[in-house]
Amino acid sequence: QDLRIARIASAIRVIPNFPKPGIMFQDITTLLLDTKAFKDTIDLFVERYKDKNISVVAGIEARGFIFGPPIALAIGAKFVPMRKPNKLPGEVISEEYSLEYGTDKMEMHVGAVEAGERALVIDDLIATGGTLSAAIRLLERVGVEVVECACVIELPELKGRERLGDKPLFVLVNAA
Ligand code: PRP
Ligand code: MG
Repeated sequence: QDLRIARIASAIRVIPNFPKPGIMFQDITTLLLDTKAFKDTIDLFVERYKDKNISVVAGIEARGFIFGPPIALAIGAKFVPMRKPNKLPGEVISEEYSLEYGTDKMEMHVGAVEAGERALVIDDLIATGGTLSAAIRLLERVGVEVVECACVIELPELKGRERLGDKPLFVLVNAA
């Protein structure tokens, strides 16, 4: 377990000053190039969630679309994309959330999930927690139980976990 986590942590590339000065960008594309570390990442999530009666994996655009589908397939759940505005063609419900400057919107197709379903929310990274909390609100508005949120990386300094209230958050790696 610790060996797998260590390998995953070292496969994530950190790029200083991207997209702007002072930001240390956590680049998961290098994790995807390491076939063992990528598989371990998916396996660790699958081991945790396979017997939790989860019927929906909700993946957040864009990088939640990389990790969500293999987990969904392995645990026998459906995959529901949580998208940026005006991308989904059908009827949507949407939720606003705050960014560093201004706000953004997240959208989900009406009818993708049913009240009473149990969901896992997946993204690559939690920073301020605004993105994950919008996904939780969207799902809970339609009566879905969010069992847990899961990310590959957490930036603990930003205290995004606090923004999720009592919703459990599972992460593999803490960024220094
Ligand atoms: C990044 C990251 C998370 C989000 C975390 O996505 O992939 O989704 O920020 O930030 P927060 O916890 O402060 O809300 P981004 O919005 O940059 O878009 P992308 O995944 O489409 O590249
Ligand atoms: Mg993202």
